[in-house]
Amino acid sequence: MELEHVWFSYGREPVLQDISLTVGRGDFVGIVGPNGSGKTTLLRLILGLQRPQQGRIRLFGQDLRSFRRWERIGYVPQKATSFNSDFPATVQEVVLTGRIAPRGLFRPLGRKDRELADRALALVGLEAYADRPVGRLSGGQQQRVFIARALAGQPELLVLDEPTVGVDAAAQQQFYALLRRLREELGITILLVSHDIGAVTTEVSHLACLNRRLFFHGPPEQFPADSLSEFYGHPVHPVAHGH
Ligand SMILES: Nc1ncnc2c1ncn2[C@@H]1O[C@H](COP(=O)(O)OP(=O)(O)OP(=O)(O)O)[C@@H](O)[C@H]1O
Ligand SMILES: [Mg+2]
Repeated sequence: MELEHVWFSYGREPVLQDISLTVGRGDFVGIVGPNGSGKTTLLRLILGLQRPQQGRIRLFGQDLRSFRRWERIGYVPQKATSFNSDFPATVQEVVLTGRIAPRGLFRPLGRKDRELADRALALVGLEAYADRPVGRLSGGQQQRVFIARALAGQPELLVLDEPTVGVDAAAQQQFYALLRRLREELGITILLVSHDIGAVTTEVSHLACLNRRLFFHGPPEQFPADSLSEFYGHPVHPVAHGH
């Protein structure tokens, strides 16, 4: 994925200013930045949901304006966990909807799709919940359903917007272990927005610090830790998570 001098604004004030960023196959990029710094907007540009006013974006080597292979990308949006308790679908059915884009809207889902959905559920550790109504799961479990839904599409690029909000410490460790496995075993490229700076810096291959502009992009060990507070505009103390 390549962004070249990308500018974007919703109104008059630019939300993203002159962003240039290259992500290689198999990279794990953590995007950090304060509230309102443009992280979700950046993801929406990459997913083709918004168009940059200036600059260009390439996905898998192809210009975004002519890119059509959206099934190669899995997306877990911010605040995705909002099924109410009588939402009329089981966990497996929700995960199966992740097969619709790769399969094509008008082709019926088959045994292969069910297998891929079950495999995705196993990856996130929810195979025992397949037949439960999704609205009866806890918030953290629902978050994992959304991740499984994205994985069911067998994406090459996985884009996650704050997926560990509301997830307890144990589930968070499992979540990062899962991302590590996806990357190592399946070679999936990962783009992760998170406020959990401690976890992000120990897990990712590359860190992107965004606050309307891209302040830093590179391996986390090259990030000058003492400039983190300056970047956020208030004291920040990353907590290293032991693995
Ligand atoms: N649809 C919209 N219309 C107008 N302005 C918007 C819209 N979406 C976001 N903004 C503004 O753009 C800026 C960046 O928002 P964005 O959602 O990208 O931030 P973020 O970094 O994801 O923040 P957070 O950490 O709170 O999720 C904010 O100032 C926000 O108010
Ligand atoms: Mg956001």
